[in-house]
Amino acid sequence: MAAADGPVPELQSRADACAERLCSADRVLLASHIDADGLTSAAVAATALERASIPFEAVFEKQLDAESIASIAAREYETVLFTDFGSGQLDVIAEHERDGAFVPVIADHHRPAEADTDLHLNPLLEGIDGASELSGAGTTYVLARALAACSDADERHDNRDLAALAVVGAVGDMQASDGELHGANAGIVAEGVAAGALEETTDLAIYGKQTRPLPKLLEYASDVRIPGITNDERGVVSFLDGLDVECRADGAWKQWVDLTDDEKQRLASALVQHAVSRGVPAFKIDRLVGTSYVLAGETVGTELRDASEFSTLLNATARYERADVGLAVCLGDREEAFDRAKELLANHRRNLSEGIEWVEEHGVTREEHIQWFDAGGEIRETIVGIIAGMSMGADGVARDVPIVAFARKGDEETKVSSRGTGPLVGRGLDLSAAMGEAARAVGGDGGGHDIAAGATIPAGTEPEFVERADRLVGEQLD
Ligand code: C5P
Ligand code: C5P
Ligand code: C5P
Ligand code: ZN
Repeated sequence: MAAADGPVPELQSRADACAERLCSADRVLLASHIDADGLTSAAVAATALERASIPFEAVFEKQLDAESIASIAAREYETVLFTDFGSGQLDVIAEHERDGAFVPVIADHHRPAEADTDLHLNPLLEGIDGASELSGAGTTYVLARALAACSDADERHDNRDLAALAVVGAVGDMQASDGELHGANAGIVAEGVAAGALEETTDLAIYGKQTRPLPKLLEYASDVRIPGITNDERGVVSFLDGLDVECRADGAWKQWVDLTDDEKQRLASALVQHAVSRGVPAFKIDRLVGTSYVLAGETVGTELRDASEFSTLLNATARYERADVGLAVCLGDREEAFDRAKELLANHRRNLSEGIEWVEEHGVTREEHIQWFDAGGEIRETIVGIIAGMSMGADGVARDVPIVAFARKGDEETKVSSRGTGPLVGRGLDLSAAMGEAARAVGGDGGGHDIAAGATIPAGTEPEFVERADRLVGEQLD
């Protein structure tokens, strides 16, 4: 396949080199991250490896660190494919490579550590933003497309159908902005649409269009707060009942996807009018409409049909030590694994809403340049980052200052998660640098993206960490 045929031309030669190595391996250990992007990365890689008849085994890690890399090395695979992580720990991985433990192939989008390794596929190496233009799953998709070319796989598999999973990963990593995906991500969307795996529609930009009954859809939409609608059950019901749209069928509330296009149009305009009349500013009202990414092959009205709902379903598995369930769903299980994932989702949703309530109740501490909270053992360390992000803009939590959250991780360590916003990044915020530097100063380590990063630090060092992070962020925002 000619280089120009790849979805991201800048990455083609790196992708070809990585694919070539994988194609010549007897077997591959596939290691990936435990979130929606990590799971979809693993699913894209697993499918491409299988189609290329390359035997593999998949393992998942919460965080790649010296210990987890050592345990991967102990598996004695000659070739290890890291997806959605690896770049940040390149130094440690390169040491194992020098020792002859394994040859690493990395498909990641996190800020790379200083070190040299040949088979490293990362958008940041080619000037493409890893937080907004290409996710881990997108990067793995680029590799999967190259794998289709180097293997003697069935001609029918150009792997473009995998674009749908890549888009779920990008959406799960919150790479969409101004209502849609951009840059290399948009190129992947185009391939998915061309392959018939994906549909792109302009629609109401509210979470839950597939699965939430209409009143819950509107009531829980907290991204744009609308007086008389957001968190107002009675307000929502009277709004819906006042419309010239049949919102119920056989006495039960319909879901958004049950409405006809014309009904959707009428409901959306009424919602916009209502928001205008309640004084919601125009720039916020614009956010009510955006691009929806629909998985064409999935059943309407299920969590799998919409990229955003799909990604939450995956987080509900992998962040609760059930990556196997999420991976099975990605690979097509619509029975046992899908049922289990839905149970896990109910639990995840409960934890998210309880977590946000906890933050609202206990409040955050405001420093000069950051705000923070310490959830101790009250919030699971694997979801404290999601909660930190969702709580920005909630009661008592500012949106114009980055948020840092702590949660207990075992007896001796503390997990740190931090989240910023687009405007803060525009002013110079780089949480990956701030978290990494502050963590290393107190004996821990961290990294990630400019807009969202994390770290692990020794328990008890939180006050010093806060002081350092506050100063570093202050310098960045100067
Ligand atoms: O490790 P990984 O790259 O998959 O995680 C990215 C994290 O950054 C996600 O938890 C995502 O929610 C967060 N993020 C964010 N806002 C953005 C981009 C990413 O909160 N604009
Ligand atoms: O859980 P996950 O990180 O995939 O959530 C992504 C986004 O989806 C959240 O930041 C939130 O805006 C939205 N969401 C929601 N209600 C839920 C779960 C997720 O609105 N129950
Ligand atoms: O865990 P959390 O969702 O807060 O992670 C935010 C981002 O920071 C993710 O992209 C994650 O991979 C990254 N991270 C990291 N090193 C850590 C912790 C998180 O690179 N020690
Ligand atoms: Zn990712």
